[in-house]
Amino acid sequence: MGGKTDGMVRRARYERERLARLEAERLLEEKSLQLFRANEELKSANSALEQRVIERTRAMAEVLREAQEANRFKSEFLANMSHELRTPLNAIIGFSEFIAEDLSDGNLATYQEYAEDIRTSGLHLLDLVNDILDLAKVEAGKAVLDEHSVDMTDLIESCGRLVIARYDRAAPELVISVPPELPMLFGDERNLKQILINLLSNAIKFTAPSGCVTVTASIDAAGQFQLIVQDTGIGIRPSDIERVLHPFEQAETGFTRKRHGTGLGLPLVRFLVELHGGTFQLKSQVGQGTVATILLPSERTLDPALT
Ligand SMILES: Nc1ncnc2c1ncn2[C@@H]1O[C@H](COP(=O)(O)OP(=O)(O)OP(=O)(O)O)[C@@H](O)[C@H]1O
Ligand SMILES: [Mg+2]
Repeated sequence: MGGKTDGMVRRARYERERLARLEAERLLEEKSLQLFRANEELKSANSALEQRVIERTRAMAEVLREAQEANRFKSEFLANMSHELRTPLNAIIGFSEFIAEDLSDGNLATYQEYAEDIRTSGLHLLDLVNDILDLAKVEAGKAVLDEHSVDMTDLIESCGRLVIARYDRAAPELVISVPPELPMLFGDERNLKQILINLLSNAIKFTAPSGCVTVTASIDAAGQFQLIVQDTGIGIRPSDIERVLHPFEQAETGFTRKRHGTGLGLPLVRFLVELHGGTFQLKSQVGQGTVATILLPSERTLDPALT
């Protein structure tokens, strides 16, 4: 009897121990799983952190690069500007010295010539200073539009006449193509005039007298005001297209250097167009010609019934 009881007690103890062992194993398994999960979470948090550090470093390097670029651009701008200002100033000083020292031997015609040279240099200087001020104002976000309804047909025609009259050589043919029902445009007339003069004078300057310059104005399918100045001139190399939109940049051709210019015309066009909420695009093919396209938002075209 005692042997039987002993056996039962042993079995019961054995069973308890087995259950306890099983429970301990289960707990161990659960703990290892928790540990495994925590480890995985830590790993992914770590790699997310690493990724963020990489991204931050990249963003900081980009900001630094932009700042360095802006700084280099500013130094170049100043160097170019001083050079451009010095040339006409030297002419003014030189010719007025001739007059002061009376190098003409009292010849009135020579005096008049000197005075004319001083005047042209002065006007050139004024143009330059105005362009630089306009550019600086737009860049500083200080440019304010003086907006009215503008008759673009009249403006295109008067700018065309002005540019041809100012051009001191034989000019290519100028064709103006504007539909009679072209609506008025809401914008800054002085800016729009400047845009047209800059684009037209480039087109004429870089096109042979046998070539052709065409100005087209219309309203496109989306209702935007579209202005295109197209020429059959020397064209711009693809690698120069982006560059010539920056101040003082001119395309690298022997031809360009023979033409007068500072390299402020196109950057100013782009800024002024953007100031009107529009876009400016330059397309060109060397030897074929250049197409400058301006799109102004549809809100700027005025309903003919209201004007
Ligand atoms: N229609 C064009 N055909 C060929 N090249 C052009 C044309 N328009 C501009 N370019 C090139 O782009 C350069 C920059 O033009 P931009 O009008 O900014 O300056 P610019 O005409 O040289 O001087 P500025 O306009 O200040 O008197 C020109 O020097 C020329 O190399
Ligand atoms: Mg120009």
